[in-house]
Amino acid sequence: MTVHIGAKPGEIAETVLMPGDPYRAKWAAETFLDNAELVNEVRGMLGFTGMWRGNRVTIQGSGMGMPSLSIYANELMRDYGAQTLIRIGSCGGMQPHVGIRDVIIAMTASTITSPSSGIFRELNFAPCADYALLSAAVAAARNKGTKTHVGGIYSSDVFYAERPDLDEQMVRHGILGVEMEAAELYTLAARHGCRALAVLTVSDHLQTGEALPSEDREKTFGDMVEIALEAAFA
Ligand code: HPA
Repeated sequence: MTVHIGAKPGEIAETVLMPGDPYRAKWAAETFLDNAELVNEVRGMLGFTGMWRGNRVTIQGSGMGMPSLSIYANELMRDYGAQTLIRIGSCGGMQPHVGIRDVIIAMTASTITSPSSGIFRELNFAPCADYALLSAAVAAARNKGTKTHVGGIYSSDVFYAERPDLDEQMVRHGILGVEMEAAELYTLAARHGCRALAVLTVSDHLQTGEALPSEDREKTFGDMVEIALEAAFA
């Protein structure tokens, strides 16, 4: 047990998928894993461990935003020996060629600040994905025929952003989408010698104002879970 995770030693797998929403962790575990067992419910941040094609996997909610994800990712790597962490979540599209339902596989994640940025002082650390996971996820997505974009994303501290000038600079510099967790996950994985990736579904679009209808969310979320699982065990 750790401060925020109630699992007993050995109940967390080396491979962990991390959706922001704990109920999505439950849905993904029930839908994709065999013999899924609840291993954490501290603060309602549900985590399940089960089997996928003979491989042991934990699906643990991270909560929204980098401070919340940082708590779970730190404890998973430091105390439970997690080695591979893949964020599965939604993001806002930022480029005209990025459509609703498309998948973004994040090669890098830019931030203004993150829970880790204090330790870097004058350095602008560049959080990046694990290359083997990234290339396996791209192959899995292409096999599925999912429209997929690979490149840089932005991890924001706010959902309700008030900086149109910053959005404009990101669009200008090719940032594909915005979410709120990946940069800290990549930084922590680097620190702990672990592998990390973020596979994201575009749920809304900053330029067009389009949003994914709620009835479509489950199917598109399912594709993303499968891409993450295939990448983890490629
Ligand atoms: N901003 C930040 N995070 C998000 C968004 C967004 O527009 N959409 C989904 N996650």
